[in-house]
Amino acid sequence: LEVVTRQLREGRIGSVLNQVNVDVLNELQRVAVEESRLGIPLLVGRDVIHGFKTVMPIPLGQAASFNPDVVRDGARVAAREAATAGINWTFAPMIDVSRDPRWGRIAESLGEDPYLASMLAAAMVNGYQGDDLSAIGTIAACAKHFAGYGESESGRDYATTNIPENELRNVHLRPFKAAVDAGVATLMASFSDLDGIPASANEFLMRQVLRDEWKFDGFVVSDWDSIRQLSIHGLTANDRESAYEAATAGVDMEMHGNAYSNNLEQLITDGRVSIDIVDTAVANILRAKFRLGLFDHPYTHPEKLPAIGDDDAFDAARQAALQSVVLLKNDRQVLPLSADGLESVALIGPLGDAPYEQLGTWIFDGDPELSITPMHAIHDLVGRDVDVRYVRAMETSRSHSVDGFDEAVAVARDSDAVVLFLGEESILSGEAHSRADISLPGAQAELVKRIRSTGRPVIAVIQAGRPLTLSNIVDEVDAILFAWHPGTMGGPAIADLLFGLESPSGKLPSTFPRMVGQVPIYYAQGNTGKPATPEKAMLIDDIPVGAQQTSVGNVSYHLDAGFTPLFAFGHGLSYADFRYDQIAVSSAEFELGGTVTISADLSNDGDVAADEVVQLYIRDLAGSVTRPIRELKGFQRVRVEPGQTIRVEFQLEADDLAFYGRDMTRAAEPGQFHAWIGGSSEAQLRTSFRLV
Ligand code: BGC
Repeated sequence: LEVVTRQLREGRIGSVLNQVNVDVLNELQRVAVEESRLGIPLLVGRDVIHGFKTVMPIPLGQAASFNPDVVRDGARVAAREAATAGINWTFAPMIDVSRDPRWGRIAESLGEDPYLASMLAAAMVNGYQGDDLSAIGTIAACAKHFAGYGESESGRDYATTNIPENELRNVHLRPFKAAVDAGVATLMASFSDLDGIPASANEFLMRQVLRDEWKFDGFVVSDWDSIRQLSIHGLTANDRESAYEAATAGVDMEMHGNAYSNNLEQLITDGRVSIDIVDTAVANILRAKFRLGLFDHPYTHPEKLPAIGDDDAFDAARQAALQSVVLLKNDRQVLPLSADGLESVALIGPLGDAPYEQLGTWIFDGDPELSITPMHAIHDLVGRDVDVRYVRAMETSRSHSVDGFDEAVAVARDSDAVVLFLGEESILSGEAHSRADISLPGAQAELVKRIRSTGRPVIAVIQAGRPLTLSNIVDEVDAILFAWHPGTMGGPAIADLLFGLESPSGKLPSTFPRMVGQVPIYYAQGNTGKPATPEKAMLIDDIPVGAQQTSVGNVSYHLDAGFTPLFAFGHGLSYADFRYDQIAVSSAEFELGGTVTISADLSNDGDVAADEVVQLYIRDLAGSVTRPIRELKGFQRVRVEPGQTIRVEFQLEADDLAFYGRDMTRAAEPGQFHAWIGGSSEAQLRTSFRLV
């Protein structure tokens, strides 16, 4: 601290990170403001990714809510809790589009779809920054990692990416554009190598796209030491060259390393880096400090902010958890459980009572003591009427020992229903925690089989940081609630869903493969010249022995996995019985400058009220570059009462159909479009229109 204070007085420090003691931070601000030459207050950065003390579901889980309000609220709560500690800048939202569940950081992302990620990115920025960044309780956001990180080869963290400009613009850059349009204060350059030029030295990204095209006027920070890493990548020979590359490419601030502080002065003296570059970087950073109001109120007064973990925070966390859980399957309506007919329920598995694990990755400050686990919540909810028995059965999600299985089987056999709490501990996803095998780890599949043999109805609640391959257990259980890492209030949310106080309403923001070898698998794929059909995709055991290879009738699929996912993007069941009908388009043709309305009826034929996330997909049948077979263009979360039919409408303008075409400009191209409305990316109810 002494060193920092001295350097602060000398005017050598402009921001600090990873300090969360408000007294220390106020003292540092005092030294900066009162004792440094220019009196400039400090930025205080911290990874507040999905909550501070009160933890929301992991971002991938939040994305499953398809609800910008829920996402905004979570960020708002995170911001004001973090602000009590003196933090004024968070390294979130993480908006790397990822189509690879092996990648550990998919947990931090908003999923595979650029439209969904864009809508939620804007909401998250809004939640952190509010309408007024200088207000008490708002903090600066940082959209990261610019750009392409989500494509890390084979899902191995930090691995190379090669992304053609067309795909970069049509997919990966879109959420960043949305964040910039939403006023995000800062961006972070990615660790990754993009087409041979690591992002932290990528002039195309930071100057051409970000500044020239998007007119971004906030600042860009490097990732942790990512400037010095330019020489590890093999782009530069030493730190001086790294500083040169990063500065000229447009990184305004270096996080953690000292390439800038050791080398920029010399680079300027040598005339290699112009002073204008430094002036611009300084102005960009100062602008953020002004917008934060730091010159007017550099100090934090925690007593002026709501208490940590108040009702508002817990409500936000509970709503987010409730709306993010996805009901993947529900055979014979085993869910919801009814406390009436039930005498006993067995809760089995390593994640039923794991207050830390349910918080998920990247929770530096998250407080496991605040967590309410499913076991506790179920006790609270039905413990008076139902005999609730908990058997952990496995020490951790990774345990290979089956020693606890006999007890689990005995308890299951003796209970009316069984809920298995499976998944991944939090440390199995997140930064640098990629997996090549994304099935349930340890002896969990064996546990499922053993419990299945009891003949009891088996419900699996899975908490995980990524989509998992569930092929080996999906037929062994009657129902699956996929809860991601649901955060502080995961337990009450899961209990309410299990016992039907609420209906599940989450939808998958990420495709679930059958086998890891299908990855990358995502709904918005290209059609190829030989798309698969069920008749033509013959699985390995169906191929006649001695069959001859030909070039006729072949289609694009895997011999052992087919061509469909286990669960599609947008999938998510409900306790209600939803039916889509009567799709219509306002006019078969519409002109540039006009709008088209696509609508459909949604009926609830069931007997409970529930939310449904209605989704609109389109396909542009011919383009100057080939277009995805489906693209999400709208979604609405609506509540439908039993017996009720509502009309859901989506309006599209030509601009909503625009994309970067062959000449790399963004435009809507006239032609024929298909449109689907439904409850997942596999929706069948279709209409069409023409843009003229
Ligand atoms: C991560 C960033 C994070 C930073 C600071 C890096 O390793 O890639 O996302 O904000 O560390 O903790």
